[in-house]
Parts: sequence; C-alpha cells; structure tokens
Amino acid sequence: MSLIQEADYGTPARKTDKLVTLKIDGFDVTVPEGTSVMRAAAEIGVKVPKLCATDTLNAFGSCRLCLVEIEGRAGTPASCTTLVAPGMSVVTGNERLRKLRKGVMELYISDHPLDCLTCGANGDCELQDAAGEVGLRDVRYGYKGAHHLGLEKDRSNPYFDYDPSKCIVCSRCVRACEETQGTFALTIDGRGFGSRVAAGQNEPFMSSECVSCGACVAACPTATLIEKKVVEIGTPEHSVVTTCAYCGVGCQFKAEMRGPELVRMVPYKDGKANRGHSCIKGRFAWGYATHRERKSVPMIREKITDPWREVTWEQAFERAASEIKRIQAKYGRTSVGGITSSRCTNEETYLVQKLVRAGFHNNNVDTCARVCHSPTGFGLSQTYGTSAGTQDFDSVEHCDVMLVIGANPTDGHPVFASRMKKRLRAGAKLIVIDPRRIDLVRSAHIEADYHLPLQPGTNVAVVTSLAHVIVAEGLVNEAFVRERCDAEDFAEWKAFVLEPQNSPEAVERVSGVPADLIRKAARLYATGGNAAIFYGLGVTEHSQGTTTVMAIANLAMVTGNIGRPGVGVNPLRGQNNVQGSCDMGSFPHELPGYRHISDEGVRTLYAKEWGVELDPEPGLRINNMLDAAVDGNFKALYVQGEDIAQSDPDAKHVIAGLEAMECVIVQDLFLNETANYAHIFLPGTTFLEKDGTFTNAERRINRVRRVIKPVPGLADWEVTLRLAEALGADIGTYAHPGEIMDEVARTTPSFAGVSYKALDEQGSIQWPCNEQAPEGTPVMHIGEFVRGTGRFIITEYIPTEEKTGPRFPLLLTTGRILSQYNVGAQTRRTENSRWHEEDVLEIHPYDAEQRGVRDGDWVRIHSRAGETSLRAKITDRVATGVVYTTFHHPLTQANVITTDFSDWATNCPEYKVTAVQISPSNGPSEWQEEYLRHSDLSRRIAAE
Ligand code: SF4
Ligand code: SF4
Ligand code: SF4
Ligand code: FES
Repeated sequence: MSLIQEADYGTPARKTDKLVTLKIDGFDVTVPEGTSVMRAAAEIGVKVPKLCATDTLNAFGSCRLCLVEIEGRAGTPASCTTLVAPGMSVVTGNERLRKLRKGVMELYISDHPLDCLTCGANGDCELQDAAGEVGLRDVRYGYKGAHHLGLEKDRSNPYFDYDPSKCIVCSRCVRACEETQGTFALTIDGRGFGSRVAAGQNEPFMSSECVSCGACVAACPTATLIEKKVVEIGTPEHSVVTTCAYCGVGCQFKAEMRGPELVRMVPYKDGKANRGHSCIKGRFAWGYATHRERKSVPMIREKITDPWREVTWEQAFERAASEIKRIQAKYGRTSVGGITSSRCTNEETYLVQKLVRAGFHNNNVDTCARVCHSPTGFGLSQTYGTSAGTQDFDSVEHCDVMLVIGANPTDGHPVFASRMKKRLRAGAKLIVIDPRRIDLVRSAHIEADYHLPLQPGTNVAVVTSLAHVIVAEGLVNEAFVRERCDAEDFAEWKAFVLEPQNSPEAVERVSGVPADLIRKAARLYATGGNAAIFYGLGVTEHSQGTTTVMAIANLAMVTGNIGRPGVGVNPLRGQNNVQGSCDMGSFPHELPGYRHISDEGVRTLYAKEWGVELDPEPGLRINNMLDAAVDGNFKALYVQGEDIAQSDPDAKHVIAGLEAMECVIVQDLFLNETANYAHIFLPGTTFLEKDGTFTNAERRINRVRRVIKPVPGLADWEVTLRLAEALGADIGTYAHPGEIMDEVARTTPSFAGVSYKALDEQGSIQWPCNEQAPEGTPVMHIGEFVRGTGRFIITEYIPTEEKTGPRFPLLLTTGRILSQYNVGAQTRRTENSRWHEEDVLEIHPYDAEQRGVRDGDWVRIHSRAGETSLRAKITDRVATGVVYTTFHHPLTQANVITTDFSDWATNCPEYKVTAVQISPSNGPSEWQEEYLRHSDLSRRIAAE
C-alpha cells in the first residue's frame, strides 16, 4: 500500500462547455473558459511552483511564486490569478523566472525556523517542496534579521496545533475557513511584516468560534497548522480511502497510516458527497476505536445481575444458539427477533435481516430508522413511489431558494451545511421553519430571509398553509401538475388546502407563526426559482411525521420543484447508513428494495435464492417487540450496533421490555446501556475494521474499506454468519462482503448494477443503478415519477395528543450538537467531549425567571412519562414556552421523559414534542442515581 496523493491543480476546475485553446511552453492546451493558467499548465503535467494556491480554494495571488511570462504582456503575472485566453502563449520556466522565484523563496526562508529534521511536516511540506523546485541553495539575507521565530504555539485545540513561527501568511487557512467551511473564524491580524493568522479575536482556537472542522489544517502548506497525531506518530506512509461512519452525509476520507497505526483522516477530494471537506467528527473523532472501555472478547452471563464472564467465540455462539432454540421451542417461532443497525454496513445489515427471516423463520426485524426516518420512507413512497431523497448534494449548487424545516444542518450534517452556506453566500434565499433559532437563521455572512418559529407539533398545519397560499394566489405550476401528477388527487387536494382552517390566519392561531410570514415564505418558495426542501428529524419524529413528509412532497409537486438539479425533497438522514439499512430490508414488512413481504413473487425469488420458505406475515416493530416482551410473549432479541435503552423513547418501558426477556444478545463496541440488560455480548468492530458499503442521504453507495484488522478477531458479518451456523441455519457462505453485495444486486432491481468492481471504478454509485441507469441516478423523478404520476395526498392537521396544561406547561423538543453524535457512544469517548461535556436544557429567559432558574443551575424536568435532571442554559434561541435539549449522554436520560406517542403510520416516536414542567433541583434525580448504580453493577466482569 502506498500513500494516496491527489493531484493539486492549483485552482478550482471551471464548469462550462466553452473551451479555450492556448500554448503553454510550446504545447497546445484546451481547457474550459475561466480556467487559470496555473491549472491549464497542470492539466498537461507542467507544475508551476506555488504556495498560496490550492485547487480547493479560489486563487488569491499573494505569494508571487507562480510567476510566468505571457507573450505580448508586460511583467510576470501570477499564473494562479491569470485566466487563460484564446491564442495565449505562456512560458512557465526560464532564467528570469527562476531568479524571481528564488528571490521570493529566500525571503520566506529567512524568516522560517529551519528545523526541518525535527518538524512534524518533514517530508510533507509544500514550503520544502517549493524550495526544492526553485533550486534554492542559499539565503542572501541570512537568518539574523527581524523574524517571528519566538512566537508562542497555540495548543489549545485537542486535535491540532498552531505554530505561528512557521506561518508564511499565505491565507490558505483563512480562505478555507471562509470558502470551504463558512465559519469565518480566522483573520490575518496585523499588517505587513507583523501579519499573522489569528483565530477569533486573536484568542486561542479553543475559545474562538472555530468548529474544529480541520479545513484550515488540510489547507496549510507548512507545519503551522498540523494534526497533533502527525507530530506524535510521524508523517503517514500509506493510506486507504474509506467512508465516515457518523452522519448521513457520507464523507470520504483517506485513512493515512504509519505502519499499523492510524495517523489521520484526511478528507478525500474525490469524495462525491464531501468534495474534500470534513467536520470535526469524521476528521478527528475516531479515537474511540482504541478507547480503554472497548470490548474485544465475547462475554456471557446467566442473569443480568451477574458479572460478565469472558468466553471464546465458540462458547458465545453456542450459548446464543441454544438459547434461541430453547426459547423458540418453548414460546414459539415468533418469540425472538433482531434489530439491525444504521451504523453498520449494508452487507452486515442484509445478513442480520436474512438471519431473522431465514434463520429465526419470522419477520421480527426492525432498525433504528424506525425511530428517525421511517416516515420519510412511507411518505415519499406514497407520493412519489420511492423511499428516498430525490437529489444529489451537488444539486444544491443550482438551488435558488432553500426551505429548511425541522433540520439543523450545521450541527447534524455539517459538511452539507457548508455547501448550503456557500450557495447562500452566492445569493440563494433561505426559509427556515423551526421552533429554535438554529445557526442557519443567522451566522457569519448568512441570514435567513424568513424564519418561521412554529410551536413544536404544528408542522403539518404550517406546510399545508404554505400550499394554501400557493393555490389561493395562483402560484401553482399548472403545466407540471397537468403533465406529471394525478389529476383527480390534485383536484381533491386543491379543494382541501383552500379550506379556511388552512389559511395563514387560522394556522397562526395554532402554530404561533404570523400569517404574514407564512404568506411571504410561500411566495418566495413558489416564485424564487429552483426551490429545494431540506428536512430532518424535526419533521419525522412527530405523531404526524408521515403527514408532514407528504405535505412537503405536495409542496414540491404543486410548484414543479422536482425532477431537475436545484430542487427536490431532501431528507437529511441522521446516521451514516440509515438509508442503507432501510434499503436492505430491515423493516418487518419489507424485503430488500422496499418490496412488501406479502408479495408472493418477491417471496418466491428469495425462497429460491435463500433455499427457505418465508413467512408472509409482517413481523413486529421495535416497540411491538418491547410491548410483547412486557406481555410475556417475546423472549429473545439480537441487537447489532444499536443502543435502544438510550436511544428509544420512554426509556422505562424499553428497560421493562428488555428485563422481561430471557436472552438479549448485544453486538457492540462497548457495554452500552442496552448491554446492561443483556445475557450475551458479542464484541463488534468500528468502521476502521470494516469492509463493505454505506449508503448516504443522497442514495450514494460508498465503499468502506478496512484500515486495521478487526480487533475482536471476527468482522461483524462473520459474527452473524457464525451465529447462524451455530443455529443450524444456512444463510449462505461468502468469502468477502463483496459477495454479499453481489447477492443484493442479484435480488434487488434498484441495485442490479452495483458491485464492488463498479464502486471501485466509479468511486460511488447512487441507486437506482440498473440497465436503465448503469452509472446510477443522481436526480430522481426526471420526466416521470417512479410511481408514474405524482400523488397529492390530503394532509389534515391533527394536533398531537401530547398537550400542555397547568401541570406540564412547556414543550420539550430535542436535537443534536455538532461535536457529539447520537447516543454519544463514540464521540463521548473522544476529545469531542471537551466541546460538550453534558446535555443541557435550553430555556428562554422569561420561562427561567418565572421558575427562579439561573444559568447553570440544576433543574428537574418532568413529563407524564418520567423525570430527569440536568443543567439549565438560559437563551433566547428557544421561544417562550419551548425548552430544548440534546440526548448524547446516558446520565441525562432525556428519553425517560419522552412519551410513547408515535407517528400514526410508522410508529416513529414523537421525540420532538413532550409537555414538561421545569423546576429547580439539587442535582441528578433518584432515578438517575439508581440507573448509575445499576449500570456500574451490570458492567462488572468476573476475574478469570
Ligand atoms: S478548524 Fe475549521 S472552523 Fe476552525 S479555524 Fe480551521 S477552518 Fe475554521
Ligand atoms: S497558518 Fe498555514 S495556511 Fe495559514 S497563513 Fe500560515 S502558512 Fe498559510
Ligand atoms: S459526521 Fe457527517 S459531515 Fe462529519 S465528516 Fe462524517 S459524514 Fe461528514
Ligand atoms: S501560487 Fe500564485 S501567487 Fe501564490
């Protein structure tokens, strides 16, 4: 293996069909109009020395190293800022240019600590390279003049250092923070010789607004900004391209290694979802893979009050299989089930659902998508005919109006948020519909045109009201509706949206959003050009989650904003592989590719492929499994890579269900909260140890490649296979996960053209990928909806049963924070906790004052379901009457207070609306203390 080096063309590629031909060093070159001379030279392999230019950033022209001569032009222009012109003739190297470049380099080097041998970037430094390229042999000015060599290092960030003595003031970091990340945390402080890069108000990186995305570090040509791990371990020597295992953006990285050790994750420029960018999680938060709490040996115990006993893999499989067999013999075939994980690969997930259907002989399989995006699957399949987002991420570059509802991209999907911000800075308009003033509403150089701060639980009313305005004001795209949608459904829907209860005035009364704002937002969405909707769990995790998804789909259809770049309905998927786990047949009623289990033809296909008859009855959903467990009818569960005791609603009920089971098998990296109630623990692998694929929010199938060997000795897919073998179930033999994907492709029409070979060749593929679309499908529903005609569905607003009243006067809504991820099992075990040590409760100053709560006080939050305590943070980001918290820390147990209300169609829990009361408290609640005691007890491991 070698170190993957991506070419740097110096300036970004231009996208235009207009071509320009010129001569460089006597050779003809044809490039798109707007290309720089530097890039045109690089295209034919002529490397012009450079320092301030890099192809991920716009040209800046400050270092003057890239000078060239152009026939007929005076002087020596910088090739990075000079654009090509027809017939231009360029010389990139001659005596005069060499002399000039040497002179520039001499100035840089005279103020540089010449400690190359001990420098962290030795061998990976563009300054070193440039010195070599220009043939620098001595420095006429000496090294004794004024310099910056004594400047103090900033080591405040846990992941990278800033050493101003090595800075060449090329501004690549400043531009990366602005152009790529969009945070604007860096400036060049001072003037002339005194100029230096400064974070925030010339403060340490850690206390500035820096979000630690690493873009500046990746852009820095010297060791000024450098990963701590590179300093500690040394420069990397080989690398593998793989995919981030955190969120649904699906960023690709080069995992750079030195020997067996991972040194750093460098965002991959050819990654089609991230285009060379990253966020703090994918870039830096991978230390959990070697955390001391990671478990690498299988364990079993008789009772959940016993300490764990380490055993061999064989003993663990034997115990698991005999328990499942015993339980099925005693309580029946359907008394057992499995949960797949959206953190695992497609191949692993496929095998778990196959084990349940073909090995347990029932359909009791579900996935964590149940608790996040199941309404997306159902809602979009009903309206458009497919269960997925309609666009690719590149589409945002063609968008004129963004409507963001129930999503907080800068925290939840940071790399895509950076792409959104870039487009917004270029002039796109923005509508935000959210109870909270999320960062997108106002941040550096971004301001939403309209923010509709609705009451949690009123999405359906507000989105339907937008449609009301569009129809009432004659803003319907009549041609699109006539040609693409079902006429009868449309007529019914049109009459419905015009009903008075959907008028902005009526909806103002239920949602709190001023009617005028609803009108303005509707007009902008309908008339502002290409309009795209982006939504997240703030849409789906409601009792009417599916209805809101349908209302969103209606809105896109009625304005014709579907079926081309720049528009569409874009669910921002939470976990790395939530799209894939749904695609792979993780729901109890669907086989892979969203085909209903009752479809005899599909069952026959699988019966032939798998050699086993399948049960035509849909199985139990997660919540039904838990209900059945409490009722005594469900006795064993195999949970791969999920922590339902922390992530699922009404935690007390989840725990009661788990406690009622006779055999809980947890496969995970850590003894998570669910493992507190488990009898068998199978150690899992991190994404660094996996081979397989993840499918991101844009249906993009990305390869996950093994970086290090599986720490427990077996890969997760091998564990599932061995478990099946112990059970006596034949679920196939595979030499490599690629063969599992071959089986998926063989049996699932939308994956027919997918293979590891195709993925390696193309980098990634967006499904559907088949004969009609051999290279995949970036934008869906072009010309025709997957279901034929688009279907308008009536979206009547039915208020949630979770209501505020004198006992519970506030509405709690929940969300994520940038540095932590989901239940925090991974990020809490990294330095990311420095940014978010605990979950806090955001409360408006008025509500806090009413209750005598001060900033930082412990408060008790209780609902009809339960209570917990956490610290208060007083902020006007939330409106009065609304409180907000994250759910990343098990001690907070935010899900003790969420109720068991759920979406009418999919049972997706209503996490986003809980009526609560807040009162001052002295610290953790009794329940929390008891929980901690139990967790500590449960995690004991018996001595040999
Ligand atoms: S790490 Fe990211 S946010 Fe922080 S200064 Fe660098 S580019 Fe800006
Ligand atoms: S810190 Fe690095 S990227 Fe930023 S100006 Fe200095 S040398 Fe250039
Ligand atoms: S967490 Fe999401 S945005 Fe961040 S690097 Fe990973 S995939 Fe990209
Ligand atoms: S690379 Fe062109 S001026 Fe710096």
